[in-house]
Amino acid sequence: MITDTTDRLYSDMQSHHLMPLWTLEKDILPWSPKPKALPWLWKWSDLYEIAERSGALVPIERGGDRRAIALANPGLGGLPHATPTLWAAVQWLNGREVAPAHRHTAQAVRFIIDGQGAFSTVEGDKVYLERGDMVINPPWYWHDHGSDSDERAVWMDGLDIPLNNYLDASFFEPYKGETQAVSAVLDGTALKYGVGQMRPAWEPRSAQYPPIFAYKWAETERALNNVAKVGAASPFDDVALEYTNPHSGGPVMDTITCWIQMLRPGVHTQAHRQVNSAVYYVFEGRGLTVINGIRFDWEKGDMFVIPGWAWHEHCNASSEERATLFSIQDTPVMRALNKYREEAYTENDGHQSVTGVFRPAAGFDKV
Ligand SMILES: [Fe+2]
Ligand SMILES: [Fe+2]
Repeated sequence: MITDTTDRLYSDMQSHHLMPLWTLEKDILPWSPKPKALPWLWKWSDLYEIAERSGALVPIERGGDRRAIALANPGLGGLPHATPTLWAAVQWLNGREVAPAHRHTAQAVRFIIDGQGAFSTVEGDKVYLERGDMVINPPWYWHDHGSDSDERAVWMDGLDIPLNNYLDASFFEPYKGETQAVSAVLDGTALKYGVGQMRPAWEPRSAQYPPIFAYKWAETERALNNVAKVGAASPFDDVALEYTNPHSGGPVMDTITCWIQMLRPGVHTQAHRQVNSAVYYVFEGRGLTVINGIRFDWEKGDMFVIPGWAWHEHCNASSEERATLFSIQDTPVMRALNKYREEAYTENDGHQSVTGVFRPAAGFDKV
């Protein structure tokens, strides 16, 4: 005779480390994504001040190797993660400092915010960093940074650290010395491959990672201006360009793609949502982004997160100046795993109604 009860059944499941699907279904198989990451914004004045104080107080030492301060999304339980897949940080290098060479399986990009005389060396290719340059760091490539001037340098780091650790795939190795030997010609990969439509004919294609390690701002800006001249633009992102591997047309990393986008004066894009998450850095201008009905006002230097499947639209607040946004996005992961989806916001001419305003460091106010 069966004398079992459901209470006893559940308690036996628990003691045997088993869990039923039927009581958890809404949590583990939701009908649409329920991101824990919050839309959030960090003001440049706060980021800069805290990075500057770190520069004065904290030396760069072996172990961490870098003076990087991560955006910790308040929805992600105290982890130094901007989104479930992306790490984003402000890195500060004092004049004459060295950030020692190492390599890791985490994939990395950096976008240069400011500084003169600072350089990055990736696999022996040394490049002096200028505002707006984007430097890539494919997995397991040696890299170090340094400064030949008295001026500090500051940049945005983007890595796939959360995903890498979730997959238990992190390896790290310090270099035997502080810095690598460098190639005879400075900025060699940008010179050799920087005109993306031409390829040294005797070399094979570089299919997985770009052969070019530094995407110089002058070229990026030229591309933005040229596309704007044609009048071509996305209704959701205006003049948005993806940095590509010139040999494959694919994203710069397997796990991260980088975008630069120009919101032309007065442009207000239509809202949409995408499965991927993104971290934005405001390179130039001022404006706002409405994320799930909350208005995020931004200006030069600010950083903000758009979580996955969150409605978002961008607006350049100036009718005369362009606004330029750099972003890192985990779209390549979603596409590779066949999980990418996007949806346009069709009501109200594609514009959300604003139900709140973000207050920096504090949260949201209702309007
Ligand atoms: Fe690194
Ligand atoms: Fe978007």
